[in-house]
Amino acid sequence: MITTDLHQAVAILRAGKLVAFPTETVYGLGADANNPQAVAKIYTAKGRPLTHPVIVHIPDINHLQYWAREIPASAWQLGKAFWPGPLTLILKKSDQVSNTVTGNQDTIGLRVPAHPIAHKLLIEFGGGIAAPSANRFGELSPTTAQHVQDSLADDVDLILDGGACAVGIESTIIDLSSSEPRLLRPGAISISAIENILGSQLSTSQKNSPRAPGMLASHYAPHTSMKIIESANLIAIIELLLQQGKNIGVLSFNTTPIAKPQVTWIMMSQDIKQYSHDLYAILHAVDSENHDVILVEQPPQTEEWLAVNDRLNKAAG
Ligand code: TXA
Ligand code: MG
Repeated sequence: MITTDLHQAVAILRAGKLVAFPTETVYGLGADANNPQAVAKIYTAKGRPLTHPVIVHIPDINHLQYWAREIPASAWQLGKAFWPGPLTLILKKSDQVSNTVTGNQDTIGLRVPAHPIAHKLLIEFGGGIAAPSANRFGELSPTTAQHVQDSLADDVDLILDGGACAVGIESTIIDLSSSEPRLLRPGAISISAIENILGSQLSTSQKNSPRAPGMLASHYAPHTSMKIIESANLIAIIELLLQQGKNIGVLSFNTTPIAKPQVTWIMMSQDIKQYSHDLYAILHAVDSENHDVILVEQPPQTEEWLAVNDRLNKAAG
């Protein structure tokens, strides 16, 4: 059920059930982070392996101390700089944190979301809300309440509607649980913005990574087969596919559209914020149109476009 009734959402969380709620990045599938049985329902609803940890959403930075131990100065610095906002910090977990939340790891992912409804929900609920993205495991993340409904249907007890998510792709994840700060997942908060606050370089090596499903090669994927194509090859590949009688969805970056009934042509924004905001919503829509293939014209391979390219590569498997 899709609603804007915050009190009902709080009551459902307190009863140990699942509430999907909007954040500025994507919709989350939330449960009381202090109730292992409730958190277990997230894994069942998503079809997600029990070993994959979920992020705990907290109302403000002061809640770090309850969930994490041995918190480094860098965590306070990054939290002060970017929270509320699209940043998740991986820290050593405190003793009272359930293994269901952390996938049996010694670390916990924490984030203070910026969406006003997420914030109100956290304040009224008064505790941490464990929430991965509100989609089935491996699928595209939802950026509207309707996307959640389409993916999870009756497996979620209530969906809080907060409109379309402003950022549109998942948070930047930084691992601060060892001596070397490390990027686990790029997002709207850039590497350079984080390095500015840290005053040191961020490692991007994947060695000894904690498990993070967003790091699997294929994830965030539409059902339709998807390919990333360099601009120079786009038209030739479309013409070849048309000769083979294929129906094609195209997410173009800067190529002039081809007007053919077999082609759905979408001009993506060249503005990174707008592109990120639109990406999943457009993929959800194009995915439902029964094309044989979705072609995505490759955006620039620059740091600014790192998170978008990361999600595109994962969606293309
Ligand atoms: O923007 C976001 O981060 C959204 C919204 C709802 O907050 N959430 C999200 O959750 O994308 P999810 O579960 O789809 O992806 C979170 C990532 C996963 O790859 C997970 O494994 C990783 O964070 N993660 C969570 N806790 C972790 C931990 N203790 N150690 C390592 N990775 C962790
Ligand atoms: Mg996810």
